[in-house]
Amino acid sequence: MNKLQWHDDYSVGDEVIDGHHKTLFRIYNILHDIVINGSKIGTFVGVVGDLVCYSEYHFRAEEQLMKDNNYCNIELHIAEHRCFTGKVTYLNDNFADFNTGMCRDLLVYLGSWLKQHVAEEDKKIVA
Ligand SMILES: [Fe+2]
Repeated sequence: MNKLQWHDDYSVGDEVIDGHHKTLFRIYNILHDIVINGSKIGTFVGVVGDLVCYSEYHFRAEEQLMKDNNYCNIELHIAEHRCFTGKVTYLNDNFADFNTGMCRDLLVYLGSWLKQHVAEEDKKIVA
């Protein structure tokens, strides 16, 4: 499980959206450190809540941008967003059922999702 490192390659060419993505990476990295260091459960739950709130805020902004620009693949893109928020919300709501290994597995999934989605899908919006 690796932390997310921002590279210019991730830039979608929009300062606001890039700023959102950097914040998502930061929140993810805080969760990564909490799981790796075995910190208190309360800390983890609080940061998962932050990820739920911030991802919803960010996706709303992106979805508005797509609507404003009549982006052709909006439905598919929104479905990807719902997939991410669904996983994070499930973790947030059912944390008591998750052990450390499950948290780790889910974080690996969320990290890969973020990298792939930002590097490939989000670039198409601005392009
Ligand atoms: Fe997106």
